[in-house]
Amino acid sequence: QALLNKILKAPKAELHMHIEGSLEPEQIFAFARRNKVKLAYDSVEALRAAYAFTDLQSFLDIYYAGASVLLKADDFYEMTRAYLDRARADNVIHTELFFDPQTHTERGVPVQAVVEGIEAAMADVEREHGLTSKLILCFLRHLPEQAALAAFKDALPMFERYGDRLVGIGLDSSERNHPPSSFARVFGKARDRGLRLVAHAGEEGPPAYIHEALDILRVERIDHGVRSIEDPALVKRLADARIALTVCPLSNLKLMVFDDMKNHSLKTLLDAGVAVTVNSDDPAYFGGYVNDNYVAVAEALELGEQDLYALARNSLEASFVDAPQRRAMI
Ligand code: HPA
Ligand code: ZN
Repeated sequence: QALLNKILKAPKAELHMHIEGSLEPEQIFAFARRNKVKLAYDSVEALRAAYAFTDLQSFLDIYYAGASVLLKADDFYEMTRAYLDRARADNVIHTELFFDPQTHTERGVPVQAVVEGIEAAMADVEREHGLTSKLILCFLRHLPEQAALAAFKDALPMFERYGDRLVGIGLDSSERNHPPSSFARVFGKARDRGLRLVAHAGEEGPPAYIHEALDILRVERIDHGVRSIEDPALVKRLADARIALTVCPLSNLKLMVFDDMKNHSLKTLLDAGVAVTVNSDDPAYFGGYVNDNYVAVAEALELGEQDLYALARNSLEASFVDAPQRRAMI
């Protein structure tokens, strides 16, 4: 108990958090009412009851429905502000948030409104409370690379205007049958502009997708990566190169990547020297914010003080802050 208290209070970074996944059912209904968006659920309770997922796709269907209530820059501001205030309670001192522009532009919401709202909340919370943050634009991998290239082009003015904060790109949505190699061109363009690169890989997809993300997309971190455990040579590669994995334990349990938290690969990967970090992914949908994720793995995998300290430290080391800030944080 004393140990858990220590880890709850420890300064940490959260590096795998989809901002649209922070929308709580109450907020979804409030935005729907205000924006006159029709929902397929009658009540907060009915919506929450639908959060019974069997795999990644069953979650994504509801997650995209939830995001449909976001229309104005103010909506993105309020959503982001609420998440950052919640993160402060977990002693998050730095966070790197994902957003999915294609989910919004296809509904006629300009990428400018999305980024402007999110960025303003980040700037306010940084100024008021010192919680620093960066933003990572994710492409939807269930759509063709052409769509990602168009979204990237559409967002170029945002990378120019908000370059200090909007620092990179990622790849998310349905992983099965959508390999990283399909997105080589758009990642090449981002790399040419000096952007930071990450991708979801090895959540539901095979270890080969992690190799592809590293070799073809040249990403610096792997989001999830928990199926790397099936490929010992890959585990060694990740450990030797200090490629961080942004692991999301409660997400993995809810989406049935593991049948029981006791069988989660986190501890084995950590023991093998991999730079594992703990994150919440989509906390409103998966039943917990970042500290809940630390507690869940600490209990199920019987983690010791060294393990928990390593997880928090890894999160600060794997962040995209510049070297002086990193030194100050650790
Ligand atoms: N995996 C893939 N796509 C996502 C996720 C995830 O965990 N969360 C939001 N979009
Ligand atoms: Zn994710």
